[in-house]
Amino acid sequence: MRLPALLLSAGVLAVIGCAGPDGPATYVGGSACVSCHEPETAAWTGSDHDLAMDQATDSTVLAPFGGEAAEHAGLRTTFFRDGARFMVRTDGPDGSPQDFEVRYVFGVRPLQQYLVPLPNGRLQALPFAWDTRPGEHAWFHLYPDDSVTTRDPLHWTGAFQNWNHMCADCHSTNLVKGYDADAKAFSTTWSDIDVSCEACHGPGSGHVAWARKRSRFPLLVPEPDTLTEKAMGLVVSIHDRAIWAWEMDSTTGIARRTRPRGATQDLPTCARCHSRRASLRPEYAFGRPFEDTHVVEPPVPPLYHADGQVLEEDYVYASFLQSRMYRAGVTCGNCHDPHGLRARADGNLLCRTCHDAARFDTTSHHGHRPGTPGSLCVDCHMPETTYMGVDARRDHSFSTPRPALSQVTGVPNACTGCHAERTDE
Ligand code: HEC
Ligand code: HEC
Ligand code: HEC
Ligand code: HEC
Ligand code: HEC
Ligand code: HEC
Ligand code: HEC
Ligand code: HEC
Repeated sequence: MRLPALLLSAGVLAVIGCAGPDGPATYVGGSACVSCHEPETAAWTGSDHDLAMDQATDSTVLAPFGGEAAEHAGLRTTFFRDGARFMVRTDGPDGSPQDFEVRYVFGVRPLQQYLVPLPNGRLQALPFAWDTRPGEHAWFHLYPDDSVTTRDPLHWTGAFQNWNHMCADCHSTNLVKGYDADAKAFSTTWSDIDVSCEACHGPGSGHVAWARKRSRFPLLVPEPDTLTEKAMGLVVSIHDRAIWAWEMDSTTGIARRTRPRGATQDLPTCARCHSRRASLRPEYAFGRPFEDTHVVEPPVPPLYHADGQVLEEDYVYASFLQSRMYRAGVTCGNCHDPHGLRARADGNLLCRTCHDAARFDTTSHHGHRPGTPGSLCVDCHMPETTYMGVDARRDHSFSTPRPALSQVTGVPNACTGCHAERTDE
C-alpha cells in the first residue's frame, strides 16, 4: 500500500521506527493474545493444556477434601479443609504424620494430582491422585504395589516427585527452573502456569508490537496473506499451510501429500512435551529441530516392547516416528486440533479422510461387523495401555496386530488383547 505523502511526517516515521522488533522476543503471556485471536482462545479455554496446572481453589480442585481417608502400606492419609485451605495429613519427610497444605492442582483428566510446597522452593507431587472420571470418583495411590518408604526417591517428598525438576517443564509456559546448586534451592518461575499460547507459538513480544503497529498504521503494513510469520514478528512458524495438501491415491486407497510437509510444522512443537526425552539445554529452541535441544529415548526395550509397541509411559512422539504415516508426511495436526485438542473427526471418519472407506472400513479388511467392537480402526491400529492407574492411552506407532509375531517374541497384539479367551494360535 502506498501512503499519501502528506502523512509521511518525521513524527510518524519515528514512531514506526521504534516499534520494530528490537532484540530477542520475550514472553508477554497468553492473556495478551485474547483480544485479537478470539476463536483460538475460545477453543483452547478449558482444554487439557489450559488445565495442565492451576492454583488450588474451589473451582480447580476436583476432589472433595471432606475428611476422606486413604491407606497405603499401612499408613493412613486424610484429606480435609482448614477454612479456605486444602489440607492433607500424611507421612512427611521423616516418616511421621504431619499436616501439609495443597497449593496447586496438576493435570485434570482422567486424574488430578496435588502439589505441596516444602522448604527450599520445592513443590512435591502427592502420591494419591483423584480419579476424575464420571462415576469413578475416588482417591487412589499411583504406586499401589510398592511400599515406598521415606528414604526411597519415589517417596512423595523425594527427588522423583519433585515438581521443579521432574514435571514443571511440560505443564507450564516459559518455565525457568532457577536451581541454585550451592543453596540446593529452587526459585522456579513461569509466565503462564499452564500450556498456553506461547508454549507453542514462542515468545510473542515482537508479534504483538507488529500487530499494534498494524492497527495503528493500517496502510503501512501489508495484509497478512502477503506476509510470512517472520514478518509478523512470530519467532516460530508452525502454521503449516500444507497441512491439508492431501489427495486420494486410487491404487493404494491411501491419500498422499501433494506438497511436502513444511520444515517447521507442529511435530517438534508437540514433541517437546509429548515425548520421553532428556534435555540437553535448559531452553527449548523454537523453530529449530527438536533434536537440537533434546535426546529422545529410542523405542527399544525396556521402555518399549521388542517390536516398538509402547510399554512404559513413553508419550507419543517416538512411537509415531516408527510409523509409515510419519514417513509419508502426516503430522499431529492432521488428526488433532492443536487448540481444542479434540480429534479432527470422530471414530473411523478421522481415518477415512485419508484411507478409502471402501477398502479399509469394511468387514473384508477388519473381519468384524461395522459398528461392533473390533471394527474401529483404533481398536487394532492404536491399542490402549493404561498409565497412572486410570489413563488409557493409544499407541501412536500405528502397527498392525500380528498374533504370529506374539507367539515368537511375546509382544502383545490387539486381537488377543480383546479376545482374552483365545490364544494367539
Ligand atoms: C493487536 C492484535 C494482535 C495481538 C495482541 C496478537 N496477534 Fe497474532 N495476529 C494478529 C494479526 C492481525 C495476524 C495476521 C493474521 C490474521 O489476522 O489471521 C496475526 C497472526 C498470528 C498468527 C499466525 C497466523 C498465520 O496466518 O500464520 C499466530 C500464530 C498468532 N498471531 C499468534 C499470536 C499469539 C500467540 C499472540 C499472543 C502472544 C498474538 N498472536 C497476539 C494480531 C494480533
Ligand atoms: C509445553 C508442553 C506441551 C506442548 C508444547 C504440547 N503439549 Fe499437549 N499436553 C501437555 C500436557 C502437560 C498435557 C496434559 C494436561 C492435563 O492433563 O491437564 C497435554 C495434553 C494433550 C492432549 C490431551 C490428552 C488427553 O489425555 O486427552 C492432546 C491431544 C495434546 N496434548 C496434543 C498436543 C499437540 C497436538 C501438541 C502440538 C501442537 C501439543 N500437545 C503440545 C503438554 C504439552
Ligand atoms: C515430558 C513432559 C512431561 C513431564 C516431564 C511430566 N509430564 Fe505430566 N503429562 C505430560 C503429557 C504430555 C500429559 C498428557 C498425557 C497423555 O494423555 O498422553 C501429561 C499428563 C499428566 C497428568 C494428567 C493425567 C493424564 O494422564 O493425562 C498428570 C496428573 C501429570 N501429567 C502429572 C505429572 C507429574 C506429577 C509429573 C512429574 C513427576 C509429570 N506429569 C511430568 C507431559 C509431562
Ligand atoms: C499446543 C500448541 C499450541 C497452543 C498451546 C496454541 N497454539 Fe495456536 N496453533 C498451533 C498450531 C500447531 C497451529 C497451526 C494450525 C494449523 O496449521 O492448522 C496454530 C495456529 C494458530 C493461529 C493461526 C490460525 C489460522 O488458521 O490462521 C493462531 C492465530 C493461533 N494459533 C493463536 C493461538 C492463541 C491465541 C493461543 C492461546 C490461546 C494458541 N494459539 C495456543 C499450536 C498451538
Ligand atoms: C492425513 C492423512 C491420514 C490420516 C488422517 C490417517 N492416515 Fe493412516 N496413513 C496415511 C499415509 C499417507 C500412510 C502411509 C502409506 C504408505 O506408506 O504408502 C498411512 C499408513 C497407515 C498405516 C500403516 C502404518 C504402518 O507403519 O505400517 C496404518 C495402520 C494407518 N495408516 C492407520 C490409520 C488410522 C488408524 C487412522 C485414523 C486414526 C489413520 N491412519 C489416519 C495417511 C493418513
Ligand atoms: C480387527 C483389526 C483391524 C481393524 C479394526 C482395522 N484394521 Fe487395518 N489392518 C489390520 C491388519 C491385521 C492389517 C495387516 C494386513 C496384512 O498385512 O495383510 C491391517 C493393515 C492396514 C493398513 C496397511 C495397509 C498397507 O497397505 O500396508 C492400513 C492403512 C490399515 N490397516 C488401515 C485401517 C483403517 C483406516 C481402518 C479403519 C477403517 C482399519 N485399518 C481397521 C487389522 C485391522
Ligand atoms: C492418524 C491420526 C493421529 C495422529 C497423526 C496423531 N494422533 Fe494423537 N491420537 C489419535 C487418536 C485417534 C487418539 C485417541 C483419541 C481419543 O480416544 O479420543 C489420539 C490420542 C492422543 C493423545 C491422548 C492420549 C493417548 O495417547 O491416547 C495425545 C496426547 C496425542 N494423541 C498426541 C499426539 C501427538 C503429539 C501427535 C504427533 C506426534 C499425534 N497425537 C498424532 C490420532 C492421531
Ligand atoms: C476391540 C476389541 C476387539 C479387537 C481388537 C478384535 N476383536 Fe474380534 N471380535 C470382537 C468382538 C466384540 C466380537 C464379536 C462381534 C459380534 O458378535 O459380531 C469379535 C468377533 C471376532 C470373530 C468372530 C467370532 C469369534 O469369536 O469367533 C473373529 C474370528 C475375530 N473377532 C477375530 C479377531 C482378530 C483376528 C482380531 C485381530 C486382527 C480381532 N478379532 C480384534 C472384539 C475385538
